[in-house]
Amino acid sequence: MDKLNILIAASEVVPYAKSGGLADVVGALPKALRNLGHDVRIVMPRYYIVDREKYGLRLLEGGLGVPMGVMGEIWGGVYEGLLPGTDIPVYFIDHEGFFGRGGLYEENGYSYSDNDNRFLFFSRAVMQLAKKIRFHPDVIHANDWHTAAIAVMLNTHYAYDSDFAYTGSLLTIHNLQHQGRFYKGAMDILAIGWEHFNASEIEEYDGINLLKGGIVHADVISTVSRKYAQEIRTAEFGWGLEHLIDRNAYKLHGILNGVDYEEWSPSVDPFIAQTFDTESMEGKKVCKRALQESFSLPQRDEVPVIGLVGRLVEQKGIELIVHSIHALMHMEIQIVLLGAGEKWAEHFFSDIAGRYPQKFGCYIGYRNDLAHAIEAGSDLFLMPSLFEPCGLNQIYSLRYGTLPIVRATGGLDDTIENYHNDSQHGTGFKFHDATPDALINTVGWAVYTWYNDPKGFQQMQRNAMEQRFDWDGAAKEYEALYRRIKLGRRGE
Ligand code: ADP
Ligand code: GLC
Repeated sequence: MDKLNILIAASEVVPYAKSGGLADVVGALPKALRNLGHDVRIVMPRYYIVDREKYGLRLLEGGLGVPMGVMGEIWGGVYEGLLPGTDIPVYFIDHEGFFGRGGLYEENGYSYSDNDNRFLFFSRAVMQLAKKIRFHPDVIHANDWHTAAIAVMLNTHYAYDSDFAYTGSLLTIHNLQHQGRFYKGAMDILAIGWEHFNASEIEEYDGINLLKGGIVHADVISTVSRKYAQEIRTAEFGWGLEHLIDRNAYKLHGILNGVDYEEWSPSVDPFIAQTFDTESMEGKKVCKRALQESFSLPQRDEVPVIGLVGRLVEQKGIELIVHSIHALMHMEIQIVLLGAGEKWAEHFFSDIAGRYPQKFGCYIGYRNDLAHAIEAGSDLFLMPSLFEPCGLNQIYSLRYGTLPIVRATGGLDDTIENYHNDSQHGTGFKFHDATPDALINTVGWAVYTWYNDPKGFQQMQRNAMEQRFDWDGAAKEYEALYRRIKLGRRGE
């Protein structure tokens, strides 16, 4: 099979900058594509936090001119590096005014007010970069609203540009809640002409919706689990775009994310107190004690520890936890929580830790090492998301024998098999209703199983640890989509 040229554009990439799972995906998928023999390259913004020395980035000569409509041509720079441990080029679009700031999208809980300009600049810069480095992609793979405008630009500004004569686009939706909705004035920056400002293209309630434009213009769209691909066609999960998505379902695909098992495996994890695996689980006990110690909880083997890691936002079902917390604290359990997000939730959980110091440990902030320690040292992992396009933490949990308790939605439903008491099949505990009662009952069921059916619990742990969601399979599915896009554009 012939080699494909693939340009992946994203607003965050591990290890350079990360706020959530998007960065994990864009840091890992290219490696699997490269293993399939393709020429893959990545583009992301050069945020202030991207460490140029540490990653050995070098500045390309000549700068990059980026047309920005009424703002005129804005000049930026391009740094180039290699994705660590690979020969995959990563390009960083540099512009002090747009990206030389403390956060990726926001600071102190407030989104930057010029996010439209920042990401329109970035999207247009991706196109200009391809020209500058003379890379002729078969496919530009955009991710979420930040880069969705690329699909629009390809069909407008660059529709007759010979450099992109055979280039198509894939837009992956990692999260439909965030759509890049802005004041219509952004049309003058995007500068594709006001005739595109209509309800079947990029306009929505007299504003601009970048994700919408991307969905309309992309050759193919995908999302990160099969279940979520179905869900977003309904009003409950569509965030107002369900009809549009339903109409475009002919080009919508669900590809489940993989996991980078080089980073997330208890047998090799450098962040955990002692490594372990199915044949010897002793290390997991050591990890549990270390975890209890780091959260200043009593070091008790005979009590199950439930871990929670994630952004403290509505999506993750934090309100369900809030309304369940006192009932949960009546159970003979310990909970450790690592997260950051909405301020009220940060305060709430810190208060709970003060109120139940023997049972509830909490770290507000972002710490990768602690995320690993929680996966390794917990017995159970709670993820009661209201919606979850894919979700990575529950997949990490499986590998560490930390049984997930999840709400049956999106990727959580696709990756976790519910426990059957009789057959001892299953890898976790699922509930359907987004209610505190359902959450409390299901945690109760999991805790009951832990106390009263240790054999069944251990069997589930083995089932869980043997599961593999690797990137090789997912990369082949993306490859098939890329080929379909290429064929479509070449009219072959
Ligand atoms: P989402 O992308 O919606 O946040 P995912 O489950 O796909 O959810 O990915 C979340 C990623 O971010 C995981 O790799 C998880 O370990 C990490 N993460 C989230 N919050 C924190 C935190 N406070 N500290 C460390 N890692 C975190
Ligand atoms: C989004 C989703 C999450 C998914 C991640 C990576 O942030 O919320 O479910 O795992 O993207 O695709």
